[in-house]
Amino acid sequence: MLPAYLPNPVAALFGGGPPVDGGKNFTDGRRVFGDGKTYRGLFFGISAGIGVGVLQMWLSGAYGLENLPVHTWMSVTLLATGALLGDLVKSFFKRRVGKERGTKWPVADMYDLVAGALLLTLVLDPTWIFANITLTVLLFILVLTPVLHRTVNIIGYHLGVKEVPW
Ligand code: CTP
Ligand code: MG
Repeated sequence: MLPAYLPNPVAALFGGGPPVDGGKNFTDGRRVFGDGKTYRGLFFGISAGIGVGVLQMWLSGAYGLENLPVHTWMSVTLLATGALLGDLVKSFFKRRVGKERGTKWPVADMYDLVAGALLLTLVLDPTWIFANITLTVLLFILVLTPVLHRTVNIIGYHLGVKEVPW
């Protein structure tokens, strides 16, 4: 799941600049995505996710870690892209319910990346999902995600990368 987990923290570190929605509002008068969703965040986040996935592919070949999920260029690209698409879709709905950028939206803020990554991969590479994401793995992901999410955000907050510890 590293290709799905890495894009968010990397986007927080290297994001910024022009927002994806170009500063535009939706029909309800609120921003489409908000200033927290930028092209730079998408670019560096997705690149980092693919990068770590390719590193995993190489390590698994070099060290014979065959019991780990077998990644392909396809699977790592879909997981990384899906993670930030999930984050983007989450922000779209977060704006629609009237929550400002950076405010807390429990559950959605944590599972957006998991839902995005697994759904995009399920649609475009179902074979990979069914071969690797067993029920046990899925349960593990659902338990691990909030723990990782909270830990990384508290670290990011103290490093001054994130304005809020969630
Ligand atoms: N970020 C970015 N581009 C993205 C995603 C994230 O530049 N596609 C950066 C932004 O600087 C953002 C930070 O990472 O502020 C933290 O991301 P996140 O918590 O997802 O955004 P929020 O600012 O909390 O916005 P939202 O309320 O829409 O979730
Ligand atoms: Mg946030």
